[in-house]
Amino acid sequence: MSATLSPARSAPGPSPDAAPLIRMAGVGKTYHAAGGATVRALDGVDLDIADGAFVSVVGPSGCGKSTLLRMLAGLDRCEEGSLRLGGRDVRGPSGEVGVVFQAANLLPWMTVRENIRLPLRVGGRHAPAEARIDALLEVTGLADFGARYPYELSGGMQQRAGICRALVRDPRILLMDEPFGALDALTRERMNAELQRIWQTSGKTVLLITHSISEAIFLADQVVVMSPRPGRVLRVLEVPIPRPRSFDSIVSHPAYAGLAREIRALLTEPGDAP
Ligand SMILES: Nc1ncnc2c1ncn2[C@@H]1O[C@H](COP(=O)(O)OP(=O)(O)OP(=O)(O)O)[C@@H](O)[C@H]1O
Ligand SMILES: [Mg+2]
Repeated sequence: MSATLSPARSAPGPSPDAAPLIRMAGVGKTYHAAGGATVRALDGVDLDIADGAFVSVVGPSGCGKSTLLRMLAGLDRCEEGSLRLGGRDVRGPSGEVGVVFQAANLLPWMTVRENIRLPLRVGGRHAPAEARIDALLEVTGLADFGARYPYELSGGMQQRAGICRALVRDPRILLMDEPFGALDALTRERMNAELQRIWQTSGKTVLLITHSISEAIFLADQVVVMSPRPGRVLRVLEVPIPRPRSFDSIVSHPAYAGLAREIRALLTEPGDAP
């Protein structure tokens, strides 16, 4: 794991004085189903995320986390409130934003390398692609698997290929929706450590949705806890644990147990949706 994806920074993490890279203000979302039924998914979401921060989002199932991520990725329109990236309203998908979904969604008829190259073809950029793909395969431990097909990979390896694909255009922002939910516990810990390393060496801003409290704390500068539907930001908790972190060291850190308890208590608060 020695490859560097972009210039390393000496002090990972957000600079306290910088303007937020991501700004959500009063973001709401109501889905209108056929027959006139409505679902209020999000309500008045206010959240600032600093450039270079790693932010985890936890919240009950159905509270609008994926909805929020899709809007940030420009895949759904933000029709209520404002959603700004780098000072500009989100108007559609952008090369500045990479997305990792819960399922890797690799195209089965393409090799790993071809799958990773896909966003470059879609975006019409070709030039330094192969060297970049090599670096990504190296950093995610897939260097020997670029010519293989998805069915020849384990679930964790496919998910890593999905992460490579999200990173191939060197996005400034990485949005991840429960990327490790389907993995066994040990692979998941290994992937968390890899993600921490990628984040520390690349200077990206990461927003990770997860149902795992330990994963949320392990990776993040801040953990955002959302309410049950309609999703609102209940609390933003700082994680004052130095990096690099390991799972062994983090659970014995004095701040860990209190944070985990607080998140769990917030997650069990009742909501106001049916
Ligand atoms: N396309 C859609 N049409 C109608 N309702 C939708 C649509 N997408 C999501 N919803 C509803 O909006 C609410 C929020 O869904 P969303 O997928 O954002 O939740 P989530 O927090 O990601 O949940 P989970 O943790 O289970 O993934 C849910 O009640 C869901 O049924
Ligand atoms: Mg979801």
